[in-house]
Amino acid sequence: MTNAEPPAISVRHLSHRFGRFEVLRDVSFDVHQGEIFGFIGPNGAGKTTTIRVLATLLEPMVGRVKVLGHDVTLKPELVRRHIGYMPDHAGVYDRVTVREYLEFFADAYRVPTAGTSYAVVDASMELTDLTRLSDKIVSTMSKGMKQRLQLARVLLHDPKVLILDEPASDLDPRARIEIRDLLTELRAMGKTILLSSHILTELADVVTSVAIMERGRIVVSGPIGEIAEALERQRRGERPAQAPYSPEAGAPHAPAPEVPRIVERNVKLRVLAPFERVQGVLSELPFVTSVRLGPMATVQVALAGDDRAVAFMVRALVVAELQVVSVEPERNELERIFLEATRGDLQ
Ligand SMILES: Nc1ncnc2c1ncn2[C@@H]1O[C@H](COP(=O)(O)OP(=O)(O)OP(=O)(O)O)[C@@H](O)[C@H]1O
Ligand SMILES: [Mg+2]
Repeated sequence: MTNAEPPAISVRHLSHRFGRFEVLRDVSFDVHQGEIFGFIGPNGAGKTTTIRVLATLLEPMVGRVKVLGHDVTLKPELVRRHIGYMPDHAGVYDRVTVREYLEFFADAYRVPTAGTSYAVVDASMELTDLTRLSDKIVSTMSKGMKQRLQLARVLLHDPKVLILDEPASDLDPRARIEIRDLLTELRAMGKTILLSSHILTELADVVTSVAIMERGRIVVSGPIGEIAEALERQRRGERPAQAPYSPEAGAPHAPAPEVPRIVERNVKLRVLAPFERVQGVLSELPFVTSVRLGPMATVQVALAGDDRAVAFMVRALVVAELQVVSVEPERNELERIFLEATRGDLQ
């Protein structure tokens, strides 16, 4: 990397055991500054354990972990000053108001306050949209509101790096969208965010990079676009020389996953024309393997080919004077990456 800034988070050869059980095995990845990094894996993969090491709550047995260039083992106080850590099951003190709760933590963090005026508390409430609820008793808040309160708490000391363990699990769609919007806003403010999840769809829109973890190992990591490209190359039969992304040049930490060659893909079309006409045009194309009527008057097309085939198909429809409204992959990019990279052996 030519960039002089240290990565927000750098994990190298991290291994950990609980008793004889190896929970983390040679985990390496980088989170660059300004990213929203999705740490994804099924239950028990080792996400929380890794996050606890990043948050200085668990000392790594093997490996080196740095936050903004500071070693978590050697400089834990410095690391804590720079991170906002939200655990997966944060207890909240129920019989206090939102404001009292945040003021308590502002004091605990020794955030400078001018007398009784807690400007940081006001700013945190403002940002998380809690100002209206400042006198609400915490125990009467919904899960989504409590989650926002947790975020307000971790923002009090204005950390540069946010480490959020499952911030959107158990939230309804609206609360999830609100959290996603808030994360995007925090990123725009210059913060780096690592968040874990075992649900892909809750993250797909906001994350810029991912690490997919399975049974204590990183299966693949890097910017979503790069991983998708590498998988696409593999799908075409060109094996990349090394993993899609490796934090240490020349020493790939995760071998390129053996991906079965998936030549078929499904896309969903919306066309302003009767299904039979669309079907008529598409069944003429040699790479189209099936055309079905889907829900909400969509057309589901299976085709053997890459993006060029999709573009060719759209052109054929347009040339036939059919009005194409939308073309969507059946799965979003992150889901595709996950399915292809893990090959389904998640047990
Ligand atoms: N303190 C502990 N003592 C013993 N085993 C533990 C301890 N903490 C975690 N484990 C085990 O380590 C493995 C990884 O747990 P971890 O909590 O890191 O997974 P996770 O990816 O966060 O899963 P989830 O999606 O369920 O939160 C699990 O098998 C878990 O049972
Ligand atoms: Mg966990």
